Amino acid sequence: MGRHRIALIRGDGIGPELMDAALRVLDAASEVGGVELEYVEVDAGADTYRRTGAGCSSADVERLRHEVDATLKGPVGLPDMRLPDGTEAGLLGGILRTGLDTYANVRPVLLLPGVTSCLSGRKAGDIDYVIVRENTEGLYASRGKGVGNEWAVADTLLATREGTLRVARKAFEIAAGRDGAPGDGVRRVTCVDKSNVLRSHALFRRLVTEVAEDWPGIEVEYLYADAAAQALVLRPEHFDVLVMENFLGDVLSDLGGATVGGISLCPSGNVGAGAAYFEPIHGSAPSLAGRGVANPVGQLLAAAMMLDHLGEHTAAVAVRSAVSAALADGTARIEQDGSARGGADTVADAVVTALRAGR
Ligand code: IPM
Ligand code: MN
Repeated sequence: MGRHRIALIRGDGIGPELMDAALRVLDAASEVGGVELEYVEVDAGADTYRRTGAGCSSADVERLRHEVDATLKGPVGLPDMRLPDGTEAGLLGGILRTGLDTYANVRPVLLLPGVTSCLSGRKAGDIDYVIVRENTEGLYASRGKGVGNEWAVADTLLATREGTLRVARKAFEIAAGRDGAPGDGVRRVTCVDKSNVLRSHALFRRLVTEVAEDWPGIEVEYLYADAAAQALVLRPEHFDVLVMENFLGDVLSDLGGATVGGISLCPSGNVGAGAAYFEPIHGSAPSLAGRGVANPVGQLLAAAMMLDHLGEHTAAVAVRSAVSAALADGTARIEQDGSARGGADTVADAVVTALRAGR
């Protein structure tokens, strides 16, 4: 039986209710997959910042780095909690992504059964790609420097050789483990950049080309970011794995989420050489907390990604299949606005039932 120590960050807003749903589904999947999970709670997020002055203490970051096998995290952030310079006080992007050196942010975009895409004529599985977002450099690397009241010469984009090579390698590794794009079955890595304008992106592209040489079986292609935004809407079935700089990955993963029923359905894994943590890509939606509408699907699929990361593929597949089955038969229902009918608990009931029935 696989035993693993998991840190839980319940998060702000709807985070705790999503995490309750995820834990119920993880319990059921653990039985099916012969997995034993031991949980340790870690206090982190915007509310933690309010109480302690830090989004996550450095001692806790050390625990996440050295004392657990993976972390499951809910969304964080509260609108009234901002750093003195006005930026996000959930802080976990900066603290966790950089602090744990999770250099790849892996964001699957998948059209699930029972979910209607805003793009016409697409059925489940027609949209199925993975955005690999560089996660420790890019435009996010210089948070908060160089800004005055009436001007900003700030937010310089950082792209290093090693930082780019490692995220590019991760993208090719992921492509090698997939069946290829739904449209033509071709294993393909698309490098998305704005190298016709930004020199940093030209470096990013050149380094992706270097890595591509080690993967002759995988097609590499290049798209400017504006063209990529258009193509992700017009012909999403073309895409298999995409790799890009941090800020572009932030924007295009929300675009991708919109095409598969909304970002509330989308999970992500922040993965490094050592630590890894898994979270939905959406925010903490404080105005929806406690109202019985929170959609836990992104959180549940993040838990499945975590199980895969731990090598617990049977349990991971059980979660994913059960989520699909519950959405397909309507026992879990996502509304047009991305909310879940009956809220996180109702969805968890439906998914646990499907899981126990082996569906
Ligand atoms: C995400 C979020 C974060 C980001 C915010 C909350 C700082 O939008 O994970 O995509 O921009 O990375
Ligand atoms: Mn985002």
